[in-house]
Amino acid sequence: MKEMIKKQKELFYQKLREVNDINSLEALRLDFLSKKGQISALMKELSKIPNEKKKEYGQMINSFKQELSDQFEGRKEEILNLQEKLMIENTESYDESLPTKNPCGSYHPITLVQRELEDIFESMGFDVEDYNEIVDDYHCFEALNIPRFHPARDMQDTYYLTTPNQLLKSHTSAAQNAILRKYGPALKESGRPIRAVFPGRCFRNEAIDASHENTFFQMEGIMVDKDISISNLIFFMKTMLSEVFGREVTVRLRPGFFPFVEPGFELDIKCLICGGEGCSSCKNSGWLELCPCGMIHPNVLKHGGINSEEDPFEYTGFAFGLGLTRLAMMKYGVRDIRAFNSGDLGTLSQFVSR
Ligand code: DAH
Repeated sequence: MKEMIKKQKELFYQKLREVNDINSLEALRLDFLSKKGQISALMKELSKIPNEKKKEYGQMINSFKQELSDQFEGRKEEILNLQEKLMIENTESYDESLPTKNPCGSYHPITLVQRELEDIFESMGFDVEDYNEIVDDYHCFEALNIPRFHPARDMQDTYYLTTPNQLLKSHTSAAQNAILRKYGPALKESGRPIRAVFPGRCFRNEAIDASHENTFFQMEGIMVDKDISISNLIFFMKTMLSEVFGREVTVRLRPGFFPFVEPGFELDIKCLICGGEGCSSCKNSGWLELCPCGMIHPNVLKHGGINSEEDPFEYTGFAFGLGLTRLAMMKYGVRDIRAFNSGDLGTLSQFVSR
């Protein structure tokens, strides 16, 4: 027995010297210490020897086992240290006092405006939602009360994919149906009002100039509950816009047509530059057109599974579609919309959050 242990020890040390990486070290460990390894084999041999010798040999095997475990740990650490050293040696040296070649990035102005709005709406209890850029005809138009051959589709010509029925969303309103369906059950079961905003990239087939882009951002919002009225809409819009511009704003509503709201409005704010006197920014009208909105059309609520045929006005709600890109232009005084998609860091990295 002694001879066997001695032999195994020699064999072990010989193999350990040959091991240079973690994987072969692990293989060696299994060879000796796993259930089918050499140590277990020695343990089995124990049964064959006379009882009075068992204790002595048992202890020898156990201390051999302990020795092996210590050796493995020690070698593992050696190998890891060596690997780290090699990695450091092979890394290019650098001089931290040199000026950086890559200037630090900054947030895109639209991201800044979007995040600011999200914070404001969250503080008013709104959920912030995300939605696809590729949508189907139903969500972009049909569910919004814009039937297939309705002339209102002309205002929103967009890009159609070769996959049938798939298109790039022309407005964030395309998410309304999914959001009504997502939050509708909680509204009906526990009376939790639907309050959600959903920013997103939109696409239209536009002739591009200083104020038109084929790719731009909007932020849509909806609120649905029992007895929601135009007063709620005005309150939320006024509070939100006062926050955005950092001062009290005066708003007014004008009638506007959008098939998914009834009544629909154009919401204007009193020009912040001239205070309503008339200047070049507001084209001498004293007002700036900012945000189309309205009371959600019963057909839209029906498509969203909110109201039944029998009671089409059980729940009511308002919706608005803020032009994020336009808001960013106003807030930061950007005169040419093309700057936003230009990738020009000189222009785009000048903006900081308020
Ligand atoms: N989706 C419309 C557009 O892009 C904007 C809009 C108008 C959104 C009225 C609304 C709304 O939610 O109520 O032209």
